[in-house]
Amino acid sequence: MKGKFLTLEGTEGAGKSTNLAFIETWLKQRGIEVITTREPGGTEIGEAVREILLDKAYTQMHEDTELLLMFAARAQHLQEKILPALAQGKWVVSDRFTDATYAYQGAARGIAFERIAEIENWVQKGTFPDTTFVFDLPIEVGMARVASRGGQTDRFEQERHDFFEKVRNAYLKRAAQTPERYQVLDASQPLESVQAQIEARLQTLLETA
Ligand code: TMP
Repeated sequence: MKGKFLTLEGTEGAGKSTNLAFIETWLKQRGIEVITTREPGGTEIGEAVREILLDKAYTQMHEDTELLLMFAARAQHLQEKILPALAQGKWVVSDRFTDATYAYQGAARGIAFERIAEIENWVQKGTFPDTTFVFDLPIEVGMARVASRGGQTDRFEQERHDFFEKVRNAYLKRAAQTPERYQVLDASQPLESVQAQIEARLQTLLETA
């Protein structure tokens, strides 16, 4: 049996990490073999590429370079980690995947979606998430959460409010275009309510696995 591929998306501070851990625990408790991972990153090479992508010293990075580095990390991630795990029947839960590329490099940086789709088809060769959870909340709420955590901001977190509005709208639009693949969650709701909705979706996925 092939495993399921789940991804988590959203703007900064939307609660992806907390809910990634929740999904992992929930699945493990039901005897599912699951690996959790993230993008950009997930492999040794991918994490090295991530360092470059998030380094705020690289203010000069061209958007095409950014796009290609995202897919370079993703190619390695798919070949080394995601595809072998799915083939072994494991479930893969990734903190971000290609929806982030459409939202950040496409909608926010302005790269044509057709260009992204070309590289997506070449790199992914038909591998797409079975379900994508989109954690949606007002940008200022997410930013306040990020600020309250403290720590350093990365190259993306330096962007302005309207950049993240474009990212948010892109996620919502993509979800509306293919509603069967996405579950949009109101991440400003209490955690228990968000997790009850995630749980219901996981239950359905398990029944169809
Ligand atoms: P993270 O903060 O959720 O770990 O993600 C790192 C940053 O990378 C985040 O600001 C979103 C950005 N990103 C893209 O711009 N395009 C992509 O394809 C991915 C996977 C992430």
